[in-house]
Formats: sequence, C-alpha cells, structure tokens
Amino acid sequence: MSDLHPNLVVLQNKSLLNLFTRVRDQTTSPSDFEFYAKRLMTILAEETIADLPLATSPTTVSTPCSSFTGSFVDSTKICAVSIVRAGDSLLGCVRSLLPGVSVGKILIQRDESVPSKPAKLFYSKLPPNIESKQVILCDPMLATGGSACKAIESLVAVGVPTGSIVFSNVVCCPEGLKFLAEKYPEVKIVTASIDEGLNEEKYIVPGLGDYGDRFFNTV
Ligand code: PRP
Ligand code: URA
Ligand code: MG
Repeated sequence: MSDLHPNLVVLQNKSLLNLFTRVRDQTTSPSDFEFYAKRLMTILAEETIADLPLATSPTTVSTPCSSFTGSFVDSTKICAVSIVRAGDSLLGCVRSLLPGVSVGKILIQRDESVPSKPAKLFYSKLPPNIESKQVILCDPMLATGGSACKAIESLVAVGVPTGSIVFSNVVCCPEGLKFLAEKYPEVKIVTASIDEGLNEEKYIVPGLGDYGDRFFNTV
C-alpha cells in the first residue's frame, strides 16, 4: 500500500543500485545503456511475472530426496503487451523469460510539441483471446500517465478486466501514479523506482532522459 497508488509494488533488490546508476548517467554510451538496461529490465520482468496471481498455480513436486510444495507460472495464461516503442525493450526481456508467450502491441507516442505532452494512439494489435489472460503491460517510463492510460483504455475496450492488468515499468513518479490511481486503481503497478517528479518538459527527475531514444540510440 502507498499514499500514491493503492496497488503498487516497488522492487527493493540490492542489485538495482549499480544498474540504475549506470543507466541514469548521461555519459553512459548507447551500447552500455542497452546492456545495463537489459539487466535491470530482466530483474523487473522476473519480479513482475512473480506477481501474477491469475497465472500462478500451487503445486507439489517430487525432489530427488522428498517433495516440495510451491507454485508455478503458466505462460499460456499470460499476454505481454508493449507500448511501442520503448515498451518493446521490456517486452523483449519478458519474452526471453516466457518463450512463446502471447504478445500484443499498442503504438502510442507523446506529442512533444505540446507543453502538456498528450499521448496519441496510432495502432493496436491484440490477440483475440486477450480478455481471458493476465496482461503484463510493458513500458519503462510512467511520467504524466497519459500513455499508460491510453493503453489501458485500449485493453478495456477489447474486454480485458482492469484487475487482470499489471503495468510494469522501470521508473515512475508521483504525478503518473496519482493519475493512474484516479483512473484505474485496480491496475497493479510493478516499478523499480519512484522518482521525485516531473520537470516543466514533463520528463522525470532525476530520471534518465528519453528511454526510447537512449535504448534504441536515436538521440
Ligand atoms: C515515452 C515512454 C512512455 C511515455 C511516458 O514514450 O516510453 O510511453 O513516454 O510518458 P507519459 O506517462 O507522460 O505518457 P515516447 O512517447 O517518448 O515514445 P517512444 O517510446 O517512441 O520513445
Ligand atoms: N518518457 C521518457 O522516456 N522519459 C521521461 O522522463 C518521460 C517520458
Ligand atoms: Mg521517447
């Protein structure tokens, strides 16, 4: 529980500090950014997958010495959806952990020429049975919340219950969390960092700049 959002998980892994310091550093080269960001997103993806109750079943297995009661994740009950373009980087990590997982794509871009940076939906391709799956919505950045909100609208429009959606992001901020808490409090958020807030350009502070441009080397 948090004052900012009722359904929020913030990763506490010790390994994140080194990785965040690398990706936040503006002098990190594009190849190093990709390398460290992938390591960071792999941890985020593992922890997000571990937080999918609708795709997790208790089970008892036999060990060579005894038995063990645990649970396993059924990837056939999951659909991973990226907010293109930056979300494709996190989607790649999810797919490497869940080979063959069902995938959807939603192309949303912020209009950087408008001061409020409104999000615009261009394209959406979702699998036909998505409404029966647990959806991992992938986008590394939650800033104003406009892009995530548009993506969730697209999922709800095809029948996905908001309680089946987990939004996985690398960095978020109070403004975006509050916006999503008002609009879609049932959507769970798994994040690796809550930063201080937004600057006048609606970029996250301290943040790491434009994730998509740095990951895909289009700076
Ligand atoms: C970035 C980011 C999110 C969005 C977050 O995408 O990947 O989708 O901004 O900002 P918001 O919460 O204020 O909407 P961008 O529009 O830069 O596109 P890109 O993925 O192509 O870089
Ligand atoms: N999108 C990004 O990539 N970075 C920000 O700080 C805000 C939106
Ligand atoms: Mg961008």
